[in-house]
Amino acid sequence: TKTGTIYEAIGGFNVVDTLVTAFYQHVGNHPKLTPIFPDDLTETARKQRLFLTQLFGGPRWYTEDRGHPMMKRRHLPFEITPERRDAWLSCMDAALTESGIDEPYRSAIFEKLTMLAQHMMNTPD
Ligand code: HEM
Repeated sequence: TKTGTIYEAIGGFNVVDTLVTAFYQHVGNHPKLTPIFPDDLTETARKQRLFLTQLFGGPRWYTEDRGHPMMKRRHLPFEITPERRDAWLSCMDAALTESGIDEPYRSAIFEKLTMLAQHMMNTPD
């Protein structure tokens, strides 16, 4: 693992795994999000573990498995409104707390994901 990355600093794959598991627990129970997500979130969570590992500076498993991230393009089939963006981020905020990720990494991660979520919107409320 590369040194000086968020990935290494937070504790590597175990912590990404815990974060993603907690996150989809919230997504699967959020009335604003369940309409657009599959009932079985196993595969969604698997891809997100690969993606966040890569985003945080760890191994490039997402690209190896799925190709170029093109996140905006991959989200075009789903209506991502400001309301859904906020719901997604609230699930992530809770998951960051539950997985025990401390400052300064917590804020660094949340800021990165807030920018990405903003970029993912494709539909007005
Ligand atoms: C896939 C919703 C933001 C990363 C998906 C899927 C939905 C979704 C419905 C498809 C799930 C499936 O079919 O398995 C949303 C909503 C967002 C949002 C409502 C609100 C802004 C983000 C952000 C990231 C992200 C900020 C980056 C961390 C991913 C990844 C996948 C995915 C990695 C799997 C892509 C693949 O097929 O390889 N998202 N998303 N999403 N999302 Fe999001």
